[in-house]
Amino acid sequence: MLLEKIREIKTAVEQLAASNEQELEDLRLKYLSRKGLVNDLMAEFRTVAADQKREVGIQLNELKNALQEKFNELKQSLASTETMDDDVDLTRTAYPIELGTRHPLSLVRREILDIFGRLGFSIAEGPEVEDDLHVYTKLNFAADHPARDMQDTFFVETNEDVIKNIILRSHTSSVQVRTMETSQLPIRVVCPGRVYRNEAISARAHCFFHQIEGLYIDKDVSFTDLKQVLLTFAREMFGNDTKIRLRPSYFPFTEPSAEMDISCNICGGEGCGFCKHTGWVEILGCGMVDPNVLEASGIDSSLYKGYAFGMGVERIANLKYRVSDLRLFSENDVRFLDEFQAAH
Ligand code: PHE
Repeated sequence: MLLEKIREIKTAVEQLAASNEQELEDLRLKYLSRKGLVNDLMAEFRTVAADQKREVGIQLNELKNALQEKFNELKQSLASTETMDDDVDLTRTAYPIELGTRHPLSLVRREILDIFGRLGFSIAEGPEVEDDLHVYTKLNFAADHPARDMQDTFFVETNEDVIKNIILRSHTSSVQVRTMETSQLPIRVVCPGRVYRNEAISARAHCFFHQIEGLYIDKDVSFTDLKQVLLTFAREMFGNDTKIRLRPSYFPFTEPSAEMDISCNICGGEGCGFCKHTGWVEILGCGMVDPNVLEASGIDSSLYKGYAFGMGVERIANLKYRVSDLRLFSENDVRFLDEFQAAH
């Protein structure tokens, strides 16, 4: 009898098992394929007497559903056991993990500090929010010096008494002052850090940038020492053929003062658009520390002398990587940052 056959198969459904793809396929062929058992039963169903059709029909449908469900269940458990590998980390994110890159300014900063580190300079850091005393007064800026003007300096808090003004430092020379106030002599430091100037943002200027300034104070320090250290730096940074030239300049805190050019590393000194056809590009300011600056921080200028220099990290990075727009350094566009993947 058809009904008995159906019941018999139905009780066996629960016991069905498949331990691999092949066994699963055998089950499908046996029960669910076109020539399988269910279809045979369907064919037989046509011969069932009319008064039993309803009862048998229900049972047959239930069997068919139970088989299909069992089949799906087996298929799913097979699929999940197959990918269950001991090496699979189920807690890992589904998205690929991208390798980060170091920011070009960090790369250049590290390179500069490495060079001076090898020359015996240690690193000194200080606050970005400073007072007038450390940024200007102790560095021999006259009370009416234009750098103190609103156009250059960001003021956090102003006071009638200019000495107590709280400002964003406009150069890292303030760290040199702090070092002179607190360190034992001799001093040989480089001061890296972010500085702020109230300028309109464009491709060539920004309201903040980064500097590395150096200071050496000892007995018998001469301009020759300064020149040799800067020549060594230029050659290490831009290659052994690099030439330097010093042009007289003015800074309130150094006397004499100079600006240093290097032979244009893009055209090799021949003259190109980058160096405005002069063959030279300016990279830093320097000079012998003014005795007033030493005295202002309690250093006896009759016994000690010093030299100082300061450069912009963005400027050096421009020369090294030819970044034409300063704004790229702070926009964090990954297409720009990705270009430095190989530079590590
Ligand atoms: N502080 C100067 C600047 O910000 C750079 C400098 C440092 C010049 C030390 C001379 C000596 O432009």
